[in-house]
Amino acid sequence: MPEPTVQRGLEDVVALESSLCFIDGRGGRLIYRGYDIRDLAANATFEEVAYLLWYGQLPNRGQLDELRQRLVMLRTLPPELLTILDRLPTTSSPMDVLRTAVSALALLEPTESQPGVTSIGGALRLTAALPSILGYYHRRRSGQPAPPTHPELSHAAYVLAVLRNGPIAPLDEKAMDVALTLHADHELNASTFAARVTASTLSDLYSAITSAIGTLKGPLHGGANERVMELLEEIQLPERTEEVVKAKLARHERIMGFGHRVYKVEDPRATILRDWSHRVGEEKGNLSYYDRLRRVEEVVHREKGLYPNVDLYSGSVYTLLDIPKDLFTPVFAVSRVTGWTAHVLEEYQDLRLIRPTSNYVGPTDLTYVPIDARP
Ligand code: SDX
Repeated sequence: MPEPTVQRGLEDVVALESSLCFIDGRGGRLIYRGYDIRDLAANATFEEVAYLLWYGQLPNRGQLDELRQRLVMLRTLPPELLTILDRLPTTSSPMDVLRTAVSALALLEPTESQPGVTSIGGALRLTAALPSILGYYHRRRSGQPAPPTHPELSHAAYVLAVLRNGPIAPLDEKAMDVALTLHADHELNASTFAARVTASTLSDLYSAITSAIGTLKGPLHGGANERVMELLEEIQLPERTEEVVKAKLARHERIMGFGHRVYKVEDPRATILRDWSHRVGEEKGNLSYYDRLRRVEEVVHREKGLYPNVDLYSGSVYTLLDIPKDLFTPVFAVSRVTGWTAHVLEEYQDLRLIRPTSNYVGPTDLTYVPIDARP
């Protein structure tokens, strides 16, 4: 029997069939339920995309209006959760706050967090609640009052309203809506896979989303967007780009926002976010982020042949929208919760325990030695 080949990181391993999301890594295409991401980003709202992921088709006007109303109603958080959030240190990582709050919400609202619940209720609840949780925590740590639920606002506008002050220009709302659409789903990325592994044991939706949030936090995954902005802070001036990036590469450091396990060409989301970084930068009269990122792109591609991924430009767009840097990854989670929940519901519908094996390379047949006889 030939030794099984280990696929480190499960690279290229096809673990299951799904009708949610297709990534053409060589062609640089991303499709949600049959629709190209470029069409969805240009034409659909995030609420339409959420509906598409959950129900498998785009909503009609009545279905969309009903979805919007349900999301608005579910923005309100139970007072017991607010009490818990009030007890958390204001220095807590916002991703840890999200993870903790989802766990607590399962205990406070047990109906939707029963194992194998295939209803859309939990997906709606979490999609509506995540921005509320983030906004409540962020305003508390900034000494500001709790944000209202803004029933008049779209989901994208609500995310902006709870995370920063001031008027919401139509371009800002559209930029956030596009960013939410682009981050909604991405096949079996690490955090979605974590959610599916959890669901495959018939554990509950909230446990699966808690697994996913903990996984997304990592800088090799969702945490990269914050580190891209730290790289720009380190570079400071465009003319220092070459020096700083090449020094990092010489130290075999990863340049955040570049490379991807599946895309062998440019991530189509990076293409769209690059355009939005320029559009919003031009609107705000600040192209410094865009200009420096273009310089970083040029050096990294020349030196390592790597392409940008979704995280390279997203941080510049969020910065221009006045969102604090440590909320970039939480905003990723605010969007990705739609994909995570869609994958969990799909797993429940055709469940198979996810359980790979490992190649054992340790010793076998050792003799037990009583503790007093050990050196
Ligand atoms: C996301 O999976 C998804 O779909 C994720 C995501 C989603 O929507 O859910 O798309 C979101 O997570 C995007 C990726 C965000 N992470 C980063 O930007 C972190 C930097 N990127 C790398 O760490 C890396 O590219 C990964 C983790 C994204 C992918 O890593 P792989 O597929 O395991 O590739 P690898 O580590 O085996 O690298 C292959 C080679 C190595 O060179 P050698 O050591 O063989 O000479 O490419 C090099 C790596 O050193 N390389 C990089 C690099 N990425 C790969 N070198 C410098 N900088 C990088 N960013």
